[in-house]
Amino acid sequence: MEGGFQPDLSVRIGPLELKAPVMPASGCFNAGREVAHAFDLGQMGAIINKTVMPGYRPGNPPQRILERASAMINSVGLPGKGPEDFLNNQLPFMRSVGTRVIVSIGGLSEADFAQLAALMDEQPGIDGLELDLSRPNHVEREPFALSAKLTAGVVRAVRRATRLPVIAKLAPNVSDIVSIAAAAMEAGADALCVANTYPAMGIDIEARRPILGMATGGLSGPAVKPMTLRLVWQIAGALDAPVIACGGVSTAEDALEYLLAGAKAVQVGTANFSNPWTIPQVIDGIREYLRRHDIARVESIIGAAQPFRTDGSGAPAQAGGTAWRA
Ligand SMILES: Cc1cc2nc3c(=O)[nH]c(=O)nc-3n(C[C@H](O)[C@H](O)[C@H](O)COP(=O)(O)O)c2cc1C
Repeated sequence: MEGGFQPDLSVRIGPLELKAPVMPASGCFNAGREVAHAFDLGQMGAIINKTVMPGYRPGNPPQRILERASAMINSVGLPGKGPEDFLNNQLPFMRSVGTRVIVSIGGLSEADFAQLAALMDEQPGIDGLELDLSRPNHVEREPFALSAKLTAGVVRAVRRATRLPVIAKLAPNVSDIVSIAAAAMEAGADALCVANTYPAMGIDIEARRPILGMATGGLSGPAVKPMTLRLVWQIAGALDAPVIACGGVSTAEDALEYLLAGAKAVQVGTANFSNPWTIPQVIDGIREYLRRHDIARVESIIGAAQPFRTDGSGAPAQAGGTAWRA
């Protein structure tokens, strides 16, 4: 390690203490197996799996991935072999990494989520659950995360089924993110992950039809960062809720913007596909920034760009940071 002092990178997210404020995003890291030889995964704040759903799922028809300027669009559709395969073939590796183990679960009903949460509660070595609320529920056919009521219903059902810390992962394409974030926290979530992908599509102009097999998919990557940054800033300014930011992080500067907006940590998704060293580079870059500014603890910059919240104390600020809008 280079000279200079070692800033403290640890952060507290509700009941979860992380050694660093950077972790992968669900579905974008294959639980780190491919890059385990490339860098020490143990330096990450946490490790997370691709969302596990009940039963076997083939996923969506091809084409599933599309590249666009500073972004990708995916409609992978949560393919997976189900909870048993996850417990036997993925969880042991995740536990061996030596960092917090967060398990992402999904479902089509409150009961699906509750059953998976109860199953994970019985397993040793899991530190928290992340709820992928962006899939449609099987009754209303509306993604849970688009409705405060549906979001709260799932969080409440999971809360009853487990004592593990619960992170509710929100969808960005809503008109009032703060009300959905508040509903998740009131229903018993310990933290929020903000956010999943943005609905998007591409059209093949020669074939004159949508490129993706499902026509539409989710936009992610650097293009979404300024939009997700605003959502994180709005929530962190309005609620006393720990937020994990997720959207377009590919550099330490991106991560720092999110921390200054009020996020306690960031997740790195799409950037892992083009640069598997993104996560250690982001961690190193945050450390360098703190050294350069002579800041001993990363926690002390969290929320510094929020009006009335410059000390990182977690004191509630005005809703939506209205002071900046005046
Ligand atoms: C190929 C791909 C697969 C994904 N799979 C999941 C998933 O299984 N569960 C989930 O909650 N989010 C999933 N996501 C969303 C990411 O976790 C993340 O929320 C989103 O991509 C925004 O972050 P990014 O811009 O850093 O990629 C997926 C994203 C991509 C690109």
